[in-house]
Amino acid sequence: MDGTGCDPRDHPFFRALRSLPRPIIVAHRGWSARFPENTLCAFDAAVGAGAEMLEFDVHETADGHCVCIHDETLDRTTDAVARFGRDAIGVASTTLAEIRALDAGGWFEPRFTGERVPTLASVLDRLAPKLLLMLEHKGGSVTTLLESLVSHPARQRVMVQSFDLDFVAECRSRAPWLALGALGEGVLDDDRWRRITELGIGLVHWNVHDLRADDLAKIRGADLLSCVYTANSEVEWLGCATMGITAVTTNHPDRLAGLRNRG
Ligand code: G3P
Ligand code: CA
Repeated sequence: MDGTGCDPRDHPFFRALRSLPRPIIVAHRGWSARFPENTLCAFDAAVGAGAEMLEFDVHETADGHCVCIHDETLDRTTDAVARFGRDAIGVASTTLAEIRALDAGGWFEPRFTGERVPTLASVLDRLAPKLLLMLEHKGGSVTTLLESLVSHPARQRVMVQSFDLDFVAECRSRAPWLALGALGEGVLDDDRWRRITELGIGLVHWNVHDLRADDLAKIRGADLLSCVYTANSEVEWLGCATMGITAVTTNHPDRLAGLRNRG
């Protein structure tokens, strides 16, 4: 599928996912237990740890660029507060040049000082050849995001996901070629389920504490893929494997890979 239809089972992204060993290992914000989240070093390390998919977060800068960072503000994961002498510094009110000048590693451990907030373009270029990409849209316009993806050669290696199904619906109407995922928590109620099936969503990504066996049966019955976030213990991983969940998002891709390798 490349602009011709919206059946997720036909999409190269989901076909690639279906060919992987189960449960598929999704590195949450990169190998975030050991490296500063949403940085290139965390993403590179996730590959080495055995992840098959990389989860990361995207916001838009003041001058219309997509960058990889979790929070709306730069405060927690960069040195912006010290540099600018104030707090609550929004990604959306800061330019790309200003953000790229910040340190995004030292807050985690001094040895990571010098890491930067990556652009989406750099992540696509560097990581898409190595693993599948699970892009969580946190902020910014649909237009900017789609412009970043539409002409990139790796556009079929990326799935865009959001908790906001209105955002997902707008992506679907403007980009029939795009692989889409639905994030959620709490009860998978009838209204959300109807929208998930109508929008051609290929993967349902639910809070590990909330996903019920009945919901999983619905997902599987519709031939969609399932994923849970964020599972960080062996008890949770074994439960996911027993229930037949397709993919698991974790801060510890190395440990999940070790457990899966041991059978
Ligand atoms: O992708 C699932 C998970 O990342 C959603 O929560 O807060 O870590 O972005 P959060
Ligand atoms: Ca996320």
